[in-house]
Amino acid sequence: MPNANRIDGKAKAAELSKIIAQETAELSSEHDLKPGLAVVIVGEDPASEVYVRNKKRTAETCGFHSVQHTLSADASMKDVLGLIDELNTNSEIHGILVQLPLPEQLNENLVTQSITPEKDVDGFHYENIGKLTAGDTDKAFVPCTPAGCMLMIEDQLGRDLSGLNAVVVGRSNIVGKPMASLLLQANATVTICHSRTKDLPAVCREADILVAAVGRPAMVKGDWIKPGAVVIDVGINRVEEGGKSKLTGDVDFAAATEVAAAVTPVPGGVGPMTIIMLMSNTLRAARRANGLT
Ligand code: GUN
Repeated sequence: MPNANRIDGKAKAAELSKIIAQETAELSSEHDLKPGLAVVIVGEDPASEVYVRNKKRTAETCGFHSVQHTLSADASMKDVLGLIDELNTNSEIHGILVQLPLPEQLNENLVTQSITPEKDVDGFHYENIGKLTAGDTDKAFVPCTPAGCMLMIEDQLGRDLSGLNAVVVGRSNIVGKPMASLLLQANATVTICHSRTKDLPAVCREADILVAAVGRPAMVKGDWIKPGAVVIDVGINRVEEGGKSKLTGDVDFAAATEVAAAVTPVPGGVGPMTIIMLMSNTLRAARRANGLT
């Protein structure tokens, strides 16, 4: 099946951005309420700086109150937890995101668990993980990357994935595990693969839905893909090619388009959807904080 559908995450995110901006304007005129997003970055990781800039820009496009807190690379746990405490009680802030990874003197888990679950727009707090895992997806804040992937999968296959095999490659708390929960909730038969999986290509070949989230450039080859599958590429890998630096996914995109029914490109697939889901979660947090549905 040559020339698979290229799933345009950038275009879909732009559509969703207009809807969110419209709903934000209504919230402002009807309830005098502006969703507030605080993004915290510690240190100067160049990739993190790009992500944070994009998040701030998108928040502003949506009409949000958007603040960024930049802490120095040698910030202590006391510094970070103090800032989160302040943001937890600040009524203008509805969503808090601490950009990961953090410098090694900081305990990532303690930091993410210190964000109040009501403002945990990343969906990393155990309370939100618990709700998602228990199938209470309406009440949980769902991590942004899997939430964005799910919307693209639904566009291709509908909301009910009964009878379909889904394979998630990667078992991270940010992507792999919550992705598997969402697919299971949609009735797919789900397999999570990782570095210890035996014969990974053979497992992938069974997938009607294949989600690659490992962080290894072009690891998933064309002959790992079942003809007609929907392939979601979560990888964002920077590689050198012909003396130039470029972004590439975890899937061999050109080969995948020869086999799959639909594939997300990198860039322009999952990335923009992740950012827009953060805005969606923040809008929802603002509504909930004010007793609105
Ligand atoms: N670093 C890479 N992805 C993410 C994400 O989704 N959230 C946060 N906070 N940091 C990240």
